[in-house]
Amino acid sequence: MIPVADPAAMAALAAEHVMARISENPGRIAICLTGGSSPKQLYQLLATDILRSKIPWQRVHWFIGDERFVPADDPLNNMGLARALFLDQCAPASNIHPIPTSTADPADSNRGAALYEAELKAFYGVDELDPARPLFDLVLMGVGPDGHTASLFPGFPAVDETQRWVVGVAKAHVEPFVPRVTLTLPTLASCREMLFEVAGSDKRAILTRTFAGENLPANRARSNGETVWLVDQAALPEDFRG
Ligand code: 6PG
Repeated sequence: MIPVADPAAMAALAAEHVMARISENPGRIAICLTGGSSPKQLYQLLATDILRSKIPWQRVHWFIGDERFVPADDPLNNMGLARALFLDQCAPASNIHPIPTSTADPADSNRGAALYEAELKAFYGVDELDPARPLFDLVLMGVGPDGHTASLFPGFPAVDETQRWVVGVAKAHVEPFVPRVTLTLPTLASCREMLFEVAGSDKRAILTRTFAGENLPANRARSNGETVWLVDQAALPEDFRG
């Protein structure tokens, strides 16, 4: 766990991690973004001239770890936010991989999940994840007040899924109460680095429980490579305060 002063410092350090993972891979790069408010400042930083000019945009593919099952242009759409903050200005459209949410049945998140699983498998090239060849270079994550991460909510069967790469979740545990689509733990784990960003005093209680080892999705989400937690001062549990 790396403590940082505030959300601005956290975004700056997260951007360093993004840039380091990009520079380590001379080939095709895959980054899995996250929803929620925590990554906003990072996304804005990636669009600034200094970083934008250093990213080999043609080689970087952008995925999303979970999606709220709302239309792509709905303000609640996770990939929509990332597009608005940096992707649409910077990335080739064919390198942006949103979870489809426009199926005939607006509640059919399972269909969106199946389509995204097929897209991830096509990108990866085979249907089985090989621990020696991670799907993603970097996976960004956040933590919800109930200990969820991505759209893996405590006690939901999606948390225990081991076969499917992506699943539909009929109803979220927290706002917004819309169906979700989420990558499963084994899929998210298939990365060189998983990077959590957690900020704000309203996260201190759940981080205290998480770091105490409670069985929560946020605790079970681990990279097969490196897992890094960035936590700002306001969110830092009492035991970790200097
Ligand atoms: C979502 C997310 C979710 C989020 C956490 C933290 O769709 O809501 O992907 O898992 O990362 O709830 O959200 P904040 O960053 O807003 O605290």
